[in-house]
Amino acid sequence: MPESHPESNIESVLQEKRLFAPPPAFAKSAQVSSLQAYQELFDRAAADPAKFWGELAQQELSWFQPWDTVLDWQPPFAKWFTGGKINISYNCLDRHLTTGYKNKAALIWEGEPGDSCTLTYAQLHREVCLMANVLKQLGIAKGDLVGIYMPMIPEAAIAMLACARIGAPHTVVFGGFSAEALRDRLVDGKAKLVITADGGWRKDAIVPLKDQVDKALDDNHVPTVTNVLVVERTKQKISMQMGRDHWWHDLKQGVSAVCPAEPMDSEDLLFVLYTSGSTGKPKGVVHTTAGYNLYTHITAKWIFDLKDTDVYWCTADVGWITGHSYIVYGPLSNGATTVMYEGAPRASSPDCMWELIAKHGVTIFYTAPTAIRSFMKLGEHLPNKHDLSSLRLLGTVGEPINPEAWMWYHQIIGKGKCPIVDTWWQTETGGIMITALPGAIPTKPGSATLPFPGIIADVVDQAGEPITNESGGYLVIRHPWPGMMRTVFNDDDRFRRTYWEHLKPESGASLYFAGDGAHKDRDGYFWVMGRVDDVISVAGHRLGTMEIESALVSHPAVAEAAVVGKPDEIKGEEIVAFVTLEGSHQPSDDLAKALKQHVVGEIGAIARPGEIRFTEALPKTRSGKIMRRLLRSLASGQEITGDTSTLEDRGVLDKLRSEA
Ligand code: WTA
Repeated sequence: MPESHPESNIESVLQEKRLFAPPPAFAKSAQVSSLQAYQELFDRAAADPAKFWGELAQQELSWFQPWDTVLDWQPPFAKWFTGGKINISYNCLDRHLTTGYKNKAALIWEGEPGDSCTLTYAQLHREVCLMANVLKQLGIAKGDLVGIYMPMIPEAAIAMLACARIGAPHTVVFGGFSAEALRDRLVDGKAKLVITADGGWRKDAIVPLKDQVDKALDDNHVPTVTNVLVVERTKQKISMQMGRDHWWHDLKQGVSAVCPAEPMDSEDLLFVLYTSGSTGKPKGVVHTTAGYNLYTHITAKWIFDLKDTDVYWCTADVGWITGHSYIVYGPLSNGATTVMYEGAPRASSPDCMWELIAKHGVTIFYTAPTAIRSFMKLGEHLPNKHDLSSLRLLGTVGEPINPEAWMWYHQIIGKGKCPIVDTWWQTETGGIMITALPGAIPTKPGSATLPFPGIIADVVDQAGEPITNESGGYLVIRHPWPGMMRTVFNDDDRFRRTYWEHLKPESGASLYFAGDGAHKDRDGYFWVMGRVDDVISVAGHRLGTMEIESALVSHPAVAEAAVVGKPDEIKGEEIVAFVTLEGSHQPSDDLAKALKQHVVGEIGAIARPGEIRFTEALPKTRSGKIMRRLLRSLASGQEITGDTSTLEDRGVLDKLRSEA
């Protein structure tokens, strides 16, 4: 069982008494339009999950062949819709061409230096078919894994949909990850091909993506990769290796725009997405075709209340699960208009988000609390300069939102009229699990509210038994759901150990352990407090402390490292690394700088420690385990409370305190 660290101000959040009912005008035309309607859906799903999901799968998706069995559950392994044949690229594109969406905007793209374009469903379909045929021409066949390492440009979505179209699973690697991190993922996935760009724009600078791919593939480190497809974005000079590297704009000239979608088995691998955990290297989370398609489709439809006229903008990057499920697959499966933005909020234009909402008439806006907190700090005069009247629904994801930021979002951005959906979920869950349905469920600032219909969530104690009062415990899911991860790529055992073996109630029930701490209040509302394991969230990005520690100890000056999160007003958490040095190395500002840079090289800029603290020794238990709880208190300047009797050498603690 992981060491629990509820560093939360739970007393204050549970005293949060403000309740915001769905605005009547919103509820009137909402997909799910009353608490009673939600309750009915929830009860129906709980009473007969197979019937509930089966009916939705039939109504909402297009199938090449119907399934035989809705759910085959051999805990912890689930199969959904076995016997069925389906293609998610078909569901996201082809079927909309005959239902009136042909000339509707599928993707509105905003590039950093002011570029923009719109692709209709017909145009997106064409591009996807062209890329699918190019992939085939480069020898990619059903079952071959393709790495995607891209900026936020339409070709990132096109690449995903092209892979899905021909049954080649993709693994998207966030463009901010380093060459090292990219290489690890390509090796683990045995990727055959990489799709990348000459570069991408980020905060007025070019991210040299192709150079990173070259570095990752150098010296035949990833022998399985034989081709690289390069999209031209920045036109900066890059090296193209003859025979291996190909320009997308060249190859697309020579292929046909006709490419029928491959009928896939429901449980065929759709993608692998690597995510951080408490131990070891990032693990490949496996998602398969039909269940993921249904779950992202229906959650997008009901939670974002998608209508034909909506312009929906999720500010995530396609390198994360939020980008997969709620920029690409969920919205497109619904025939929605989805906005994609290449950049990050720029110092030169701190109100670019609001400008874009006004420019495109965005109606639904989905972002992370860390972004909201940073805009809040810049002041309300910036959003107030822009016409935000098109907005009708707001969402947040990625970390707990503090009630103060929630209220600012509600009042300053939503002008008090837009419901807020605070959506709790994970890479592993595929789609949103706990959230308000905006026309149905009254919201409380800071609570993700209630589980989505079909999701049986609970809070349990260390023994896996339900907690019936408001005190905190572990957040678990009791019943399989279509969007759930199927396993860890090539490692069923790790899947079992990580998610299913921590909590073993007497009843023998299988509980999915999410790794988060939560409280359930008297109304059954969930308050997710954050991770109870060694995973931290920095500006909404999920990082394992172990990964950062391994990166640090790979530097020759470092003997040992322990990394913890320290609360940060904007980013949620900031990385603090306690480091002991090898032999003759001496602490210095320059060394601290070099170590930070080393971590950036090993993982990427998102993992750069905010602070390096040199120390003579780390606090350990007699069995040699680093006591991170003590370091967390030290890092955040708190008094050390709780049991320190297992500490091997109490002198270490005094030293650490005096070094602070
Ligand atoms: C955290 C992101 C509180 C949580 C979709 C979870 C949240 C981790 C919320 C998953 C929320 C996500 N309230 N915490 N609304 N949403 N989290 O895999 O700790 O990048 O376990 O997926 O983010 O991060 P991941």
